Amino acid sequence: MVDLCGVQLRGPVLNGSGTYDPIAARRTFGDELLERFPFDCFVSKTITLAPRQGNPPPRLWETPAGLINSIGLPNKGLEGFLAEDLPKLAELPAPLCVSVMGFDHEELRRLVTEVGAREEVALIELNFSCPNVETGLIMGADPSETASAVSALRPLTTKPLIVKLTPNATDPAAVAKAAEGAGADGLSLINTLKGMALHPRTRQPWLGGTTGGVSGPAVRAVALEQVHSVSRAVRIPTIGMGGIASGRDAADFLSAGATCIAVGTESFRDPTAGARIAAELELVSRKEREFSSGGVR
Ligand code: SIN
Repeated sequence: MVDLCGVQLRGPVLNGSGTYDPIAARRTFGDELLERFPFDCFVSKTITLAPRQGNPPPRLWETPAGLINSIGLPNKGLEGFLAEDLPKLAELPAPLCVSVMGFDHEELRRLVTEVGAREEVALIELNFSCPNVETGLIMGADPSETASAVSALRPLTTKPLIVKLTPNATDPAAVAKAAEGAGADGLSLINTLKGMALHPRTRQPWLGGTTGGVSGPAVRAVALEQVHSVSRAVRIPTIGMGGIASGRDAADFLSAGATCIAVGTESFRDPTAGARIAAELELVSRKEREFSSGGVR
């Protein structure tokens, strides 16, 4: 068992918000999905107060080692989420973490109050880091903005608050410390790195949103360094992510200081990646234990 901010998980593998849709997967695979659910805690796609269409297409670009996305947080809004998605997500065989983003403190207050009041919800992730919506990035890039948002939200719920950090900040560890000081219970990192791609013929931006967020193996080394420096700067648990595609990658993030890890882009290539990575991680950990106790080499 793994303790994540007081919530007991059967293992350390989560999904990165917005990278796995269990409602669509259940429509396709039926209840088999529940029997073989690949994550130990499910993190929802980020919801906003009002419904959003998201960014214009194209929304994806494949890089040699990952993706650039410019999705723009399309979602049903708070009401639609609570009425339509929450009951279905509550049937998953893992604790539920709901990811929220507000365009100002008032929106965040409403989101945290209403989501936090639902018993189906175990944890709340504050997405201060989406690179495809301007305001989200500004809040998470600045330590004092982050502290002021977290302290306004902390009294509104007893549920653990996890702040999702942006790698597009001058000093992510300073933002992490500010979040911890203001009452955050945990941190998740990294979100995507800002990037862009040009249309091969027109030389104009390929993505409908002009820029996007880079994810996948291309960002793994950056993510590992940030998890390492942030985990050393705070006492609260961190959830490490960024290009994790194998049990060995997951073990690296745990060794760097993460309490849990999340699988994101790899789930687009292999929807069962969460379960595979968990099994590989078990194997890596067992071999390392045997090695350090002088057993099988
Ligand atoms: C998006 O919907 O644009 C991606 C979500 C995120 O990066 O937080």
